[in-house]
Amino acid sequence: MGLVDRVALVTGGSRGIGKAIAWELVGQGCQVGVNYIDFDQNKEQAEELVAEIIQSGGKAFAVKGNVADPSEADAMVHQVVNHFGRIDILVNNAGITRDTLLVRMKEEDWDAVIDVNLKGTFNCCKSAVKFMIKQKYGKIVNIASVVGLMGNVGQVNYGASKAGIIGLTKSLARELAGRNINVNAVAPGFIETKMTESLPESARENLVRQIPLQRLGKPEDVAHLVGFLVSDKAAYITGQTIPVDGGMVMN
Ligand SMILES: NC(=O)c1ccc[n+]([C@@H]2O[C@H](COP(=O)([O-])OP(=O)(O)OC[C@H]3O[C@@H](n4cnc5c(N)ncnc54)[C@H](O)[C@@H]3O)[C@@H](O)[C@H]2O)c1
Repeated sequence: MGLVDRVALVTGGSRGIGKAIAWELVGQGCQVGVNYIDFDQNKEQAEELVAEIIQSGGKAFAVKGNVADPSEADAMVHQVVNHFGRIDILVNNAGITRDTLLVRMKEEDWDAVIDVNLKGTFNCCKSAVKFMIKQKYGKIVNIASVVGLMGNVGQVNYGASKAGIIGLTKSLARELAGRNINVNAVAPGFIETKMTESLPESARENLVRQIPLQRLGKPEDVAHLVGFLVSDKAAYITGQTIPVDGGMVMN
């Protein structure tokens, strides 16, 4: 229970990897704002998750907001501070894909992915960091992807957004290192969530062959690393991007 009385915001926290991260933080005693965007049953899922957390004895509430919109991101961070009194941990997990080959990619596919994944991370960091600097304490974890490290066919927009997150993480870690704020990124490989459920069986089998540990990851595999990075056990780690990918990328 290393995070008792700490307060976190998890963007896109209603399902998938974000949901597992919310549970991981609650398990360590953290109070969690679960962000959702109001489409595709996310509101219901966020409210259900919050009810389950509260039932289990934890503290959480649902925060509506589109990370790509600077004023909504700012309002979200303020809601967390108003609700729990502070914000210690920001996990930038919200993300989307609009996969297709570059020659077929529309400008709006490019813009949408950059806006949510990269600008959304910037927007939330900008709002949360103001409070973290005043508190002289903060932990930021950005969810990147192995695609930002190694590339992938059909994902120039997604790969660019995730590589951008890795660059943002390094620069922000340097800016905030003197303020007792750690900034790191986690680069998941292929994790079993809604984002990957539409993969055809043949593509899935092909993928698994490229993974040394011979399976797709689970959201909890990612959440465990996030739980470590936001704990004081990781106080001497900043500016890093750590893959959770079954060995796909080896440095
Ligand atoms: N699943 C994978 O294999 C995998 C691999 C590498 C990285 N990732 C990254 O992990 C993160 C979580 O993905 P996931 O696999 O759980 O997928 P997911 O689609 O289940 O979760 C993404 C969440 O982000 C939310 N979201 C989307 N746009 C948003 C916006 N504008 N504002 C706020 N929330 C928004 C969605 O509603 C959803 O809850 C993403 O950043 C994704 O890029 C996933």
